[in-house]
Amino acid sequence: MNISIIGCGAIGSELAISIDSGRIENANLVAVFDAEQISIERLKPRLHSQNVISFSSFTDLVCSQEFKITDIVVEAASQAAAKQYAKSILKYKKDFLLMSVGALSDDSFFSELINIALINKNHIYVPTGAIAGLDAIRSLKGYLDSVTLTTTKNPKALIDAPFFATNPLKLETIKKSTLVYQGDAQDAAKKFPANINVAVALGLAGVGLEKTRVEIVADPHINVNQHNIKATGPFGEILINVRSAQTSSNPKTSVLAVHSAIECLRQACGSWLKIGS
Ligand SMILES: NC(=O)c1ccc[n+]([C@@H]2O[C@H](COP(=O)([O-])OP(=O)(O)OC[C@H]3O[C@@H](n4cnc5c(N)ncnc54)[C@H](O)[C@@H]3O)[C@@H](O)[C@H]2O)c1
Repeated sequence: MNISIIGCGAIGSELAISIDSGRIENANLVAVFDAEQISIERLKPRLHSQNVISFSSFTDLVCSQEFKITDIVVEAASQAAAKQYAKSILKYKKDFLLMSVGALSDDSFFSELINIALINKNHIYVPTGAIAGLDAIRSLKGYLDSVTLTTTKNPKALIDAPFFATNPLKLETIKKSTLVYQGDAQDAAKKFPANINVAVALGLAGVGLEKTRVEIVADPHINVNQHNIKATGPFGEILINVRSAQTSSNPKTSVLAVHSAIECLRQACGSWLKIGS
């Protein structure tokens, strides 16, 4: 499978290196695209293959020979990038793995993508990301009473969230664990676009975005990204606690999210053994 990657930051770079070093069977990296040249320059020396072509514009990427032979495009850039490029990628009949899952909180965008994918018979892959247990939540769809995600991060990992532009709360004044946000996954994705992709994945898998409750806690004493999930229903109860280290280049992104992207691509590239429902 030929792979092109959009976004060469914390996730895109590790994914590119994993493919390049043969850790994803049946995957071949053909192109990388990033709007920032510096991101490409940081990645290129870390790749052994001389055959990976880099692009700094989406138009150049889609017009290239490398794109023609691409089977799967991975987006690891931003919600805005996912929204900007996704429809074209699917219209060019490429499978699409997106990390900026928050983009799918826009209902009309989501249905458009599904329709294009149906017409073109393409796959859209949504990785589990920085949480665990999506298999169980998906299995219980229709049998769940409630799903709540409580995300705890260091205030430094919440910097730049649009939520704080309109909220009087100042992150730098937080000295102890503080609940800064309560809402649903749809709203959280807009107010914390770089932090709460997992809430959208959880919502899509389970009770829907509007019914998935989200709480965000800023804790100056925590140095991991913590996600607690509580799901209830007639089946019983699921309690999940994930505490993942942050990637060295982006404290908003959990190391687990990188490994989840790698595993999702491994499955997409036709792993013969599928473990988990
Ligand atoms: N699904 C999950 O669980 C999960 C977990 C962590 C991060 N994410 C999301 O994955 C995405 C990537 O995360 P990251 O930590 O690698 O980010 P990053 O900031 O480390 O890297 C993003 C890269 O994409 C590039 N980029 C941004 N917008 C672009 C555009 N419009 N066109 C081309 N390039 C663009 C940037 O220049 C940068 O090099 C983010 O949207 C993040 O919110 C998802």
